Amino acid sequence: MHAVLPADLAAALAARPELADTAVRYFPELASTNDTAAALAESGAADGTTVVADRQNAGRGRHGRAWDSPPGAGLYMSVVLRGPRSPVVTLLAGVAVAEAVQGAAGVAVELKWPNDVVALLADGGNSVGTRRKLAGILTEALPGAMDRDAGVVVGIGVNVRSRTFPGELAARAAAVESLAGRRVDRSVLCADLLVRLSRWRRRMVAEGEGFVIGRWRALAPTSRGAAVSWDVEGSRRRGVTAGVDDTGALLVSCAGRTERIIGGEVRWD
Ligand code: BTN
Repeated sequence: MHAVLPADLAAALAARPELADTAVRYFPELASTNDTAAALAESGAADGTTVVADRQNAGRGRHGRAWDSPPGAGLYMSVVLRGPRSPVVTLLAGVAVAEAVQGAAGVAVELKWPNDVVALLADGGNSVGTRRKLAGILTEALPGAMDRDAGVVVGIGVNVRSRTFPGELAARAAAVESLAGRRVDRSVLCADLLVRLSRWRRRMVAEGEGFVIGRWRALAPTSRGAAVSWDVEGSRRRGVTAGVDDTGALLVSCAGRTERIIGGEVRWD
């Protein structure tokens, strides 16, 4: 059973008239907002239904990884998006999250394929910049093989509060507040993100998928000309990114040909 919305979240949502018809369910603690959103969708939840938790005790990232979700530290939310399961829907979510995080952080952020939101940080006075992850997206198909429009759950995790990240995250993650240099209101960020998601969905209908993909490409400079490596059946391949095609696949020039990568792990070398 969901709880009453905390006052700050209720106020942030009420301040955005575009969200008047969006059902937002808040839970102090969940295993994973994606699982709860999928369960709500199975019981008929409407398009746009959003699940927000203050903490997750089994938050999931891509590739079966855990998503560190301590209380109060991040924005953990999942949105039910009904409609065809186009890969462009995931790109669209990436654009909305990147723009919302950029607005909150007040500094430029980038998308890194497939959909990490990263910021370029000066590396301890060294001239070499380091990209740190601020947010990640986990899109999961809703069950319903026969229903073309069953849709997806888009799970969004944003590192908001400045904190010491555990283990290997310490070298890879950063918080929006650290970039902003000030307190960032998670509820305002949540409302802004939902507004942007809904606007981008309307734009996709009005202007076509190519418009979304164009914006995604503009936000993702490392999807061209960056050295990457990935594993195929136990052997390491290396190449240089050559863009993202119209289905969201990463193109990589490798040994004189272009490989098309649709999943799996790609390392930026
Ligand atoms: C990634 O690996 O980059 C994707 C991370 C996605 C994390 C979010 S937090 C809210 C939602 N619930 C989950 O269990 N995962 C996603």
